[in-house]
Amino acid sequence: LSKGLFIKTYGCQMNAYDSARIAAAMATMDYVPVDHPRDASLIVLNTCHIREKAAEKLYSELGRLRVLKTPNAAPQSPVLIVVAGCVAQAEQDEMFDRAPFVDVVVGPQAIHRLPDLVRHAQTVKRPILDTDFPADSKFQSLPDVSQPTGTGVAFITVQEGCDKFCSFCVVPYTRGAEFSRGAAEVIAEARCMADLGAREIVLLGQNVNAYHGRTDDGREWGLARLIEAIAEIKGIDRIRYTTSHPIDMDEALIRAHGDVPKLMPFVHLPVQSGSNRILKAMNRRHTADDYRRLADRMRRHRSDIAIGSDFIVGYPGETDDDFAETLRLVDEVGFAQAYSFKYSARPGTPADLDEQIEENVKNERLTILQSSLDTHQHSFNRACVGRRLDVLFDRHGRKAHQLLGRTPYMQAVHADGSTNLLGTIHPVAIVAAAVNSLSGRISQDSTP
Ligand code: 5AD
Ligand code: SF4
Repeated sequence: LSKGLFIKTYGCQMNAYDSARIAAAMATMDYVPVDHPRDASLIVLNTCHIREKAAEKLYSELGRLRVLKTPNAAPQSPVLIVVAGCVAQAEQDEMFDRAPFVDVVVGPQAIHRLPDLVRHAQTVKRPILDTDFPADSKFQSLPDVSQPTGTGVAFITVQEGCDKFCSFCVVPYTRGAEFSRGAAEVIAEARCMADLGAREIVLLGQNVNAYHGRTDDGREWGLARLIEAIAEIKGIDRIRYTTSHPIDMDEALIRAHGDVPKLMPFVHLPVQSGSNRILKAMNRRHTADDYRRLADRMRRHRSDIAIGSDFIVGYPGETDDDFAETLRLVDEVGFAQAYSFKYSARPGTPADLDEQIEENVKNERLTILQSSLDTHQHSFNRACVGRRLDVLFDRHGRKAHQLLGRTPYMQAVHADGSTNLLGTIHPVAIVAAAVNSLSGRISQDSTP
């Protein structure tokens, strides 16, 4: 008898990957995915702790789900609620104090144990906590996911955790120390995805360019070498990786952008700030000029490379001059797209100190920064009008007959086309550009 499994995923693509693996693991216990929590006998919230009030939001969501646990709601089979991911890791057993009706709290490195934890919770009928960093890696023990891939895009986590300890960030505490998967394991997974219809592989990691996986004969491969190997897989046309730290952008990876045609001309390279003083306080270990030089080097190898980034405004102690430096960096580098955030103090991180910037100053700086980033993004997009770009269509658009896809530069593109084009790459004549997307017409003749 199959049972319903509802998974809600917050945060990054690594959580999306973990959720797919949770679904695969629970399928071994006959759980099948459902679209609504009321149809589920197992509810999993896969949480994110990176910014603002993650725990508070989670507790209110749990409050809403609680009603599903009343005996009248499901007389025969009581619903189990699992909290997974980084908030689980951060809250530990405090979660049971504030939400005693939660059945299992499981950290990101222990999700492969979920079937056992669920079985255990069903028999002992009391809450179970597992936030270990077990010696047996979740990658070895989770069943292979068949995530694909009518969309043509497959995500593979190749690296997890972080040893950088940027002073604002919880990741080193929630995801743990940096860890790279073996190269053979990753390549086998990529082959399997290609067979299932993936045209594009996205290599994921909190610090993916710090990748240093072992080969079966004991050598160590960096990310560039791994990308070259994946580029040899038949059926794979596009390779991306995210997200990267500037100091791990080594010569081999920069060169790969020039040498490996399947490696897409887009890199997400968070800089966080343009002020050397703030970069130092953030423990980013590079200067603004280091970043400028890095962008130049990448452009020497791949002149059209699009650079994306993340920014934090209002880091403790940030002055108007520091913020002006950030704006100057934005104008000089010319980002193709970027996310920007107000600094939010994360408990337990070193930056959670005095000298906090007032909320209205943060708001003002965020508005100014976002408007500058939008201007750059819009001009990058406008420069594509009149060009013909390859687009991998991966979703339906909001309007009928409309498809959505991505250019090599990661821009979203709308075009009219039939459903059977999903998961495939087609040349598109770009006819218009907005800040966040392009629109185009699929070319009849398919030589790009
Ligand atoms: N406050 C604001 N933004 C943060 N980020 C990470 N931690 C914080 C924080 N405490 C942002 C960074 C990072 C992105 C994933 O989230 O810009 O690159
Ligand atoms: Fe967090 Fe810095 Fe590691 Fe990125 S590099 S995950 S921001 S500590």
